[in-house]
Amino acid sequence: MSEGRPETSLSSDVPEFNSAVAQSTASIYERVRGVIPEIEWPVHAAYIAAINKLKVERNALIMAHNYQTPEIYYGVADLTGDSLALARDAAKADADIIVLCGVYFMAETVKMLNRSKTVLIPDLEAGCSLASSITAEDVRLLRKRHPGVPVVTYVNTSAAVKAESDICCTSSNAVEVVESLGVDEVIFLPDEYLGKYVASNTRTRMILWNGHCEVHERFTAEDLRAYRKSYGGIVILAHAECPPDVLAEADFVGSTSGMIRYVADQRPSRVVMITECSMSDNVAVEFPEVEFIRPCNLCPHMKRITLPKVLHSLQSMEYAVEVDPQIAERGRQAVQRMLDLRKRKAR
Ligand code: 13P
Ligand code: SF4
Repeated sequence: MSEGRPETSLSSDVPEFNSAVAQSTASIYERVRGVIPEIEWPVHAAYIAAINKLKVERNALIMAHNYQTPEIYYGVADLTGDSLALARDAAKADADIIVLCGVYFMAETVKMLNRSKTVLIPDLEAGCSLASSITAEDVRLLRKRHPGVPVVTYVNTSAAVKAESDICCTSSNAVEVVESLGVDEVIFLPDEYLGKYVASNTRTRMILWNGHCEVHERFTAEDLRAYRKSYGGIVILAHAECPPDVLAEADFVGSTSGMIRYVADQRPSRVVMITECSMSDNVAVEFPEVEFIRPCNLCPHMKRITLPKVLHSLQSMEYAVEVDPQIAERGRQAVQRMLDLRKRKAR
């Protein structure tokens, strides 16, 4: 993905922590003190103050996925959410610049929906094992092998793959998207496990690809059984990208936002989120009365985004995401068909 692109580099100016910074960031720290140690705060606070000042000067909007660390999620983000929310909100954004704190396919999606805006990603290497599991050529070959069968593509894919697809989906609407087509069979790409989960919730036959999320595939059913044994009364929420035997052990399966909604609605006294580490930190801030058991599987791509890189991005206008106009238009149509689906019930 980043072949031929410059290496991400950082400016050497480290912002200063002083009393004005301490004051301007005090209310943020009050919120996150349960998940960010006090000793770390001055470093984060100096960057947060500098970023928040510069984003106003630049008329920039910062979007952050639910897997971003709390200092980004609560410190500088204007909009947060799952892949669907970020795509939907991006289409409504009226800033000149959008800084996407997430991974490259998300920034491409935002760019396709906002062609006139500058879309920046703070680190070009923030990829995704699902997105890199399939190419546009693979999709063309699948279409040849299964003529007339529509292609439903998870948003965790490159713009070029989206451009070869009929409609996109996210983990919060995959079943609805598949059923909306009203056909007997679909090609579902590239997440095999999400595809199997959809297949278990619909009569539509699914032709699957063998892409996997390197974070969610590491969880095992045995891990979940051990949580139940060690933590009485625990409620297990699992992301739909997990393997089928893991999902079978869970009490709830959904997208990142679906999991957050579950905690907000049900207020379990003890919960474990079978997904990326930072999710639990971010949700724990909102629900201090809930006990979170925190397994830690990090997404190395999401974790490439840091406050120093966000500041550098706003200072240098790097790295602007560009998508070939023809690919962007075809990819946008596949995303837009998903966004246009009304009466979708988030899972
Ligand atoms: P959602 O936020 O759409 O659930 O996706 C999870 C994910 O792994 C994004 O890369
Ligand atoms: Fe991709 Fe998995 Fe990381 Fe999400 S968590 S960006 S699906 S590798």
